[in-house]
Amino acid sequence: MSEGYVSRVSGPVVIAGNMLGSRMYDVVLVGDEQLPGEIIRLDGDEAVIQVYEDTVGLKINEPVVSTDLPLSVELGPGLLSSIYDGVQRPLPALADKTGSFISRGVSIPGLDHAKKWDFVPQCKPGDKVGAGDCIGTVKEFHLEHRILVPPGIAGTIREIAGGSFTVDEPVCTLDDATTLTLMQRWPVRKSRPYRTKLDPALPLLTGQRIFDALFPVTKGGTAMIPGGFGTGKTVSEQTLAKWSDTQIVVYIGCGERGNEMTDVLSEFPELVDPRTEKPLIHRTILIANTSNMPVAAREASIYTGITIAEYFRDMGYDVALMADSTSRWGEALREVSGRLEEMPGEEGYPAYLASRLAAFYERAGRVVCLGSDECMGSITIVGAVSPPGGDFSEPITQNTLRIAGAFWALDTSLANRRHFPAINWIKSYSLYLDSVEGWYGEHVADDWRELRERAMFLLQKEVELQEIVQLVGPDALPESEKIILEVTRMLREDFLQQSAYDPVDSFCPLDKQYWMLSVILYYYDALAAGLNRGVSSRQLLDLPVRTDIARMKELSDVAAIKAIIDDIDRSIYTVGVEQ
Ligand SMILES: Nc1ncnc2c1ncn2[C@@H]1O[C@H](COP(=O)(O)OP(=O)(O)O)[C@@H](O)[C@H]1O
Ligand SMILES: [Mg+2]
Repeated sequence: MSEGYVSRVSGPVVIAGNMLGSRMYDVVLVGDEQLPGEIIRLDGDEAVIQVYEDTVGLKINEPVVSTDLPLSVELGPGLLSSIYDGVQRPLPALADKTGSFISRGVSIPGLDHAKKWDFVPQCKPGDKVGAGDCIGTVKEFHLEHRILVPPGIAGTIREIAGGSFTVDEPVCTLDDATTLTLMQRWPVRKSRPYRTKLDPALPLLTGQRIFDALFPVTKGGTAMIPGGFGTGKTVSEQTLAKWSDTQIVVYIGCGERGNEMTDVLSEFPELVDPRTEKPLIHRTILIANTSNMPVAAREASIYTGITIAEYFRDMGYDVALMADSTSRWGEALREVSGRLEEMPGEEGYPAYLASRLAAFYERAGRVVCLGSDECMGSITIVGAVSPPGGDFSEPITQNTLRIAGAFWALDTSLANRRHFPAINWIKSYSLYLDSVEGWYGEHVADDWRELRERAMFLLQKEVELQEIVQLVGPDALPESEKIILEVTRMLREDFLQQSAYDPVDSFCPLDKQYWMLSVILYYYDALAAGLNRGVSSRQLLDLPVRTDIARMKELSDVAAIKAIIDDIDRSIYTVGVEQ
């Protein structure tokens, strides 16, 4: 083990001498206070270290000791509902130990090593096991926490027993005397192995109409939400964290304001998953590295998060990872790179920004797990991007754009008009439409894609028509176009607007989404047929069925929404018909 010394301090970056023999990405303890850091460059016997704590007061010649281990996380029972900082130190535990939110040089393991868990074996002595095989389970809240053979280990089980164990006690011994515990460690910068990546085919259902109906993301897909300040990135990420149909959610609050994390902490324990009726916090892991916390730990936080996500994916679960915001992560990267005096690329970001971003998003995907061909899990990544001034031409937005499969563009003018979620339906897109069409056809309705395309066509048409209206006023439009403007207003206000705070509407089930969209388009067809019979648009639009459509969101009973179709038949389809 090398015993070095501090030779220079520059913000979160420390240069240490006499570090010969240490390795890249190993964790070191810096100074008398043993501040944790990570070696990010080696140059002769000098090591460049990014330190995960404030380096104020650190002095030249204080000792630097390598742990000879890469930055790793502890993976095992106890992760769920935890709140960690960027390097997996439990935040509530830190607060207990130090009396404040966080203090320097305090090392607390990611998992509780004293707690006992009931282990139920699924294998017996003599069984052959390999990497990724499940040897047994532990019940963690409602989740079956599967204990897997770590990558790189295989053998025949000599001993295995059920009972109550801490995460350090052996639960299984192989014939070569290897012992397995409930916990494994994994270096965060290395992706966990799987068998094969699958093509995306299943949608990630979010209960949000703008996403599910117009711009879906798949399980294992990637989505980005770029938007200026106050457009709704955080609310969108939190809404997705609440309502996505995954078994596990990893939420990374990365460089944003501390009170936003406090909101999550106070709100989540009270919320119930609409699908399982269990508290949402029981399936969630929170990683908080807020703007007031050290910048290097922020850089690490997305890796800590994705590694935890991969661990649950390997058990065959669907995981959603929310990162708010990847721009703040990029800024941390830029700050450290600046201290290293690296050659800056675009807007001061390091030249490797694009490859780092790509490598992170590459860890998303739906995979066949190591253990068996039948075991499949997924990680969906949704990254918020906060471009300065809302200008999408900046490097983080542009580089993410090349990678993400769904682009959910937040729009300042929509937010100003209080159209929420302020996702611009013209600028946004999803590359997954073809992939999920089959699933929607089978599970919702055959004409799902058709409805979606018709709605998009009308919304695009609206942009053209509005330009004309600006020039010549609404009265100049032909009747057939007046009804389009009325229907697109409905699409916007009665379908796309969805308040994250409405007790009924914050989560909209898929069949309700389908019927809401069907009703609006059925209404459009009825209006068009009315015009064909010679009835005026004014007379048609005056019929009271419009107000029923405006109330659809509030209805939790889908039958009541379907019934509007009958109302349309009875009212609009009968006006102007000879009896
Ligand atoms: N889906 C939504 N429903 C209702 N209000 C929303 C929604 N999205 C955003 N808002 C409003 O916009 C405000 C700012 O959103 P926020 O997510 O904090 O913005 P950002 O993270 O982009 O700065 C919220 O406090 C809320 O009032
Ligand atoms: Mg925010």
